[in-house]
Amino acid sequence: MSRKKIQIILVLASLSLVALLGTQGVWLSKAYSAQERAFNHSVQVALTNVADQLLTQNGQSPATAKPIQQLASNYFIAELNAPIDPAQAAELLQQQLAQRQLKEPYEFGLYNGLDDTLMFGRFVPATRQMAAAQEESPVIKHEKEGSAPMYNLAVVFPTKTSFILKEMEFWWYSSGALLVVVLFFAYTMVQILREKRLAELKTDFINNLTHELQTPITNIGLASEVLRKRAETLPAERLTRYHELIYSENERLRAQVERVLQMATMESRELVLKKETVDLHALLQQTSDNLAPRLQQRVGHLRLDLQATQPLVHADSLHVANALYSLLDNAEKYSPQAPDIEVSTRDVEQGVLISIKDRGVGIKKEFQKFLFDKFYRVPTGNVHDVKGFGLGLSYVKAIMDAHHGQVTVESAEQEGTCFRLVLPI
Ligand SMILES: Nc1ncnc2c1ncn2[C@@H]1O[C@H](COP(=O)(O)OP(=O)(O)OP(=O)(O)O)[C@@H](O)[C@H]1O
Ligand SMILES: [Mg+2]
Repeated sequence: MSRKKIQIILVLASLSLVALLGTQGVWLSKAYSAQERAFNHSVQVALTNVADQLLTQNGQSPATAKPIQQLASNYFIAELNAPIDPAQAAELLQQQLAQRQLKEPYEFGLYNGLDDTLMFGRFVPATRQMAAAQEESPVIKHEKEGSAPMYNLAVVFPTKTSFILKEMEFWWYSSGALLVVVLFFAYTMVQILREKRLAELKTDFINNLTHELQTPITNIGLASEVLRKRAETLPAERLTRYHELIYSENERLRAQVERVLQMATMESRELVLKKETVDLHALLQQTSDNLAPRLQQRVGHLRLDLQATQPLVHADSLHVANALYSLLDNAEKYSPQAPDIEVSTRDVEQGVLISIKDRGVGIKKEFQKFLFDKFYRVPTGNVHDVKGFGLGLSYVKAIMDAHHGQVTVESAEQEGTCFRLVLPI
């Protein structure tokens, strides 16, 4: 699939998911208001019934009652303006609410119609179906001297919102299911993009590999062709040169194939380490010596500044040496002018710190996070003057992980790069 196609699919799928989430949101809010309306309706009918019955018992006509007022979302008032018996009002209210399956806790109060003072109040918990519960809840009672007070009835449902949300159970399940779908979708997309990137890197790698292998094969082919046709007529000195060319090109080929095979086997099975006590300083000295001929050719420098007091680690010397060489190789390869490399060690809390610093091309910040990915090479446009497979650093990372160590990079473009390894002792 082309990148463009994936992007289009991604955008369309995201848009439809957003639309789906939006629709779910709208339905949720509609469901909430429907539930709320049903709740308000039940309460108002219950309070109207209570008011009617209280007025009738008082010898007044229910027709004189004002409609129930809702002063806040969970606060209802019946303006009775009649002398009523608090106990009777409480009981009627309880009956009416119970009939409508409103089993939420509530607070009800009787207010003096003249000055709005609370004359009687009680909190009724959700479990108040039993009459006994009534006795337990505290009661506020103010008696007024003189004429019988005129009462208004007020009811508050402190847990109304949570009650309505609880009633919307089905909606929560469907929203949860939708959320799971969205998460799965996001996860799948991330995986697809990751696979896509890997596929691109692999294509680059194969092109690179073909190119790298072709050069020695062509050279060997040409040299052997000459030897086959004109070996007798050639002077001895030219013969040696051709033989040497074939040998060295074959060595190069072997080394390349080995490296690729090594990475491939590392992928297919767990890395097995042969750990022993390794003197890092000796190892650094040795790998630096291996690089010396190449440095000499390019008039480069390599300084060793080995300060660690405890350079002995428990490690696989072959793998660690390969990893160190890989870093030195990079430091040399990616220095367009005469390489200037500094290798140092220091004691740190976690073990030994090895720094390999060059003054080469450096790496832009945006590319640094990909460096340790297999096959990754910093894009250089169409100029491929430095050869490589993008395997070196992923190998370094794998080896450091296997040793419970760390590798980090610090680099500024055109100034140089410093790789730091920390190996536990
Ligand atoms: N010291 C450095 N200075 C500048 N760029 C570097 C340095 N080391 C690595 N890089 C960048 O990181 C990329 C990945 O490095 P890595 O060693 O994994 O692969 P490579 O050198 O391209 O190939 P290989 O090591 O497999 O031959 C390189 O292509 C290069 O762009
Ligand atoms: Mg490399």
